[in-house]
Amino acid sequence: MIIRDRSMNVTPYSSGCGALVSGIQLATLSDNELTSLRDAFAEHGLLFFRDQELPPAEHLRFAERFGSIVINKFFKATSDFSKIAEVRKEKTQQTNIGGGWHTDHSYDEIPAMGSILVARTLPKTGGDTEFANLAAAYDALPPAMKKRIANLRAVHSNEHLYGENGVYRHTDLAEQLGGMDRVGDATHPVVIKHPESGRNVLYVNPGHTIQFEGWDFTESRVLLDELYAHVNQPQFTCSFNWLPGSVTFWDNRCTWHQAKNDYQGEARLMHRITLAGTALTAFSFKLLLALLSHSYLLVLSF
Ligand code: SIN
Repeated sequence: MIIRDRSMNVTPYSSGCGALVSGIQLATLSDNELTSLRDAFAEHGLLFFRDQELPPAEHLRFAERFGSIVINKFFKATSDFSKIAEVRKEKTQQTNIGGGWHTDHSYDEIPAMGSILVARTLPKTGGDTEFANLAAAYDALPPAMKKRIANLRAVHSNEHLYGENGVYRHTDLAEQLGGMDRVGDATHPVVIKHPESGRNVLYVNPGHTIQFEGWDFTESRVLLDELYAHVNQPQFTCSFNWLPGSVTFWDNRCTWHQAKNDYQGEARLMHRITLAGTALTAFSFKLLLALLSHSYLLVLSF
């Protein structure tokens, strides 16, 4: 990629997942740096930052420079900033928020573009966040599987997690979550064309995808589990260890994440801002076939 600002460095975090951005402060980005950051975000879909001075007011200002904010219906906001959600686990609590693989807001009709997570209170060890790269995972699917899922759509929901009888209501997080009367579903293509990078991305996730449209639950489960096992491989995943001053910015259209719950007896508090996206469009498999057969015919005609 072309770096428009000489001070900013973008290096791959692992071979197939994320990039570490250094040489900038998110609170005082120049317009050039912001443009470079947009390019890096479109290319990698997952950016890690260290040693940031980003108090809540600056977190909000950075997010607003990048896009418009969507407020999460279920998490509590901080007392001073209604647009900053708390991802909180007290030392007395057993359950954490986001402890299984998921994509933020895939249950919305227009899913969130990205999430910016800032570490506020960290356990002495543990509490890493793991990520998966869904564009790389799609590329590596066998052609027969790509063909099989090409025209499928999937239903994404939040009811089984945050609804009246949802998983979280039976845990020690119940008191701090709201919105149980605002649950809902949305249906999206299983393979989307990423709005900025143009890459094909597998858009299903274990947290929110409940079944394929027009399929029954059990039949859906078998194929979903096969896809999930494919994504959850070391070549598409990475783990980020949080330090004071760490920030992560991920693209919800092409990643999964999960927070490790391996620090019982200690508190962890993160501040999250979620950025609004655009309606998702399906990747056109028919178009690809048409292009391939066209180039095949061109080759034959020479
Ligand atoms: C989340 O799921 O958005 C939170 C991730 C984390 O706390 O590491």
